Amino acid sequence: MCGIVGYIGKAPVVSTVLDSLSRLEYRGYDSAGIAVFNGRGIQVRKRAGKLKELASSLKRQPLEGRLGVGHTRWATHGEPSELNAHPHRDCTGELALVHNGIIENYAELKSELLGRGHRFRSQTDTEVIVHLIEEHAKQLPLPEAFRRALKELRGSYAVCLIAASDPSRLYGARCGSPLIVGLGRGETLLASDVPAVLSRTRRVLYLNDQEIAEISVEGARVTTLEGKPVVRKPVVVDWDVASAQKDGHAHFMLKEIHEQPAAIEQTLTGRLGHAQITFDRRTSAFLKELSRTERLIILGCGTAYHAGLVGEYMLEEVARLPVDVDLASEFRYRGAMLDRDTTVVAITQSGETADTLAGVKLAKEHGAKVLAICNVMGSSIARQADAVLYTHAGPEIAVASTKAYTSQLTALCLLTLALGKLRGAIPAAQWRRHLAGLQAVPGLVRNALRAEPAIKQAARRYASARNFYYLGRRYNYPSALEGALKLKEICPLIHAEGYAAGEMKHGPISLIRPGWPVVFLATGSPVYEKIVSNIEEVRARKGACIVIASEGDRAIRRHADAVISVPKTEEFFSPIVNAVPLQLFAYHVARANKCDIDQPPNLAKSVTVE
Ligand code: G6P
Repeated sequence: MCGIVGYIGKAPVVSTVLDSLSRLEYRGYDSAGIAVFNGRGIQVRKRAGKLKELASSLKRQPLEGRLGVGHTRWATHGEPSELNAHPHRDCTGELALVHNGIIENYAELKSELLGRGHRFRSQTDTEVIVHLIEEHAKQLPLPEAFRRALKELRGSYAVCLIAASDPSRLYGARCGSPLIVGLGRGETLLASDVPAVLSRTRRVLYLNDQEIAEISVEGARVTTLEGKPVVRKPVVVDWDVASAQKDGHAHFMLKEIHEQPAAIEQTLTGRLGHAQITFDRRTSAFLKELSRTERLIILGCGTAYHAGLVGEYMLEEVARLPVDVDLASEFRYRGAMLDRDTTVVAITQSGETADTLAGVKLAKEHGAKVLAICNVMGSSIARQADAVLYTHAGPEIAVASTKAYTSQLTALCLLTLALGKLRGAIPAAQWRRHLAGLQAVPGLVRNALRAEPAIKQAARRYASARNFYYLGRRYNYPSALEGALKLKEICPLIHAEGYAAGEMKHGPISLIRPGWPVVFLATGSPVYEKIVSNIEEVRARKGACIVIASEGDRAIRRHADAVISVPKTEEFFSPIVNAVPLQLFAYHVARANKCDIDQPPNLAKSVTVE
């Protein structure tokens, strides 16, 4: 949500900032803008809509400079429009600021500032920040005015400020929304996320909440909001530019779907051996303690929550550990019972989702221990957690999560098996079988991808439907939820719902009409027969049954309108393998409907506000 890029250096600022902003497009946005210091003053250009609108305006009437700040806005306060787009300026036009987050006390600050004669141009909460800095700068040097203003804000922010009076510097700060510094040679950047800086540098400094970065061509000086210097070593990220590009695929989503065998292998590398599972020292020590815990709470949002639901089936059945799974947005407000004996597992691709982060903080305040399953090194949640199981899936750019999901499931397999072993819950034969099964998963996913032509055909056949159901049982009940989420995320023309197949008779079945497509997950499981009965119930009402079944299951053809075959696997691993046809089906339905697949309207990759 909202992308921030600040740049100071020798390169032309407009093309550099636009290029970096384009690498943050996946975060979701509805307008864009840039402010540039041209040697005399600050010029601002903003446009509603996509970055290309801004780029073509800048082509017609160029701006030039070596210092600037750009922004892609995802509207929270005030409609998506040119006026409300960032950067925002103070009354004098000397300051320009961009912001990601929500300022909760903006109304009271605004009325105070209006009383002091400030003129506001937009309906945004952001504009108060820049006027507040202007107000303080009447008495104080700019860095102090910036600090003072930030201290008055309630809510969440990542901000970046430039000032015509101080063109050798940019100022950034964060509290609850992500901000990083990219340290290049003779150039420095501020950005919301790593892909924005990768084409210029891989040396990155992560800011913590309540920290300020003063950026110059020489690098960054980090201090706390109280003004205390912070010493922090930069991290060299192992993602390269190519991994954040499409590589000839029509969409990032398709590329990321096809990257899954490699992503899963990365999650397993160094951890899964022939006879054992090993983790780094810190995680191993944490898991030893965790194995004695009597209760686990898994937190997540969106797709990560669905991974958590699968984790519940795995951990309860195989590791015999009681698990509750919570949507992070509910957990943080529901007065959950937490204590030192509780362990929270936070699942998150980005490590920045506001609700999950708040849930983690809450758990820690109550003395609970936190394990993060996370994809982004150094992200806020990774830093808050007591231990981190990194998924190592590489950058995920498409809004709809694919490879992050299957690598989260893979990490949950590792976690379940390791805990099951430590708790003495897994018989030796099952342990050996599951270890071998997990070794085979990347290959099975590779084979599942081979069914793409058949999946595409099925997707085209049903692409004009406007309602879909997804049904599954046990481990594949969460798969049904995830399949429906994929479709409604990337194809906003379609309403899709996932249900536990056993719930069908308690309501959803009443809507089935002739031709209504229902996607069934009917791969091998102890409840296979029951799913077949559910398929028959839908057929009896002339619904169209699209059935995901195991290769070699010929009998299922009698019951289905379309069959999508996946490689045979144990039920324990089946949510990983079954994710592939669900993702490809959603992708090809969306493509047939000409949807904006990588950046669906109104959605954001990283939901950094509540
Ligand atoms: C957004 C994304 C989803 C993602 C969810 C949680 O809604 O569009 O793809 O599953 O946030 O994100 P996280 O980074 O915490 O996994």
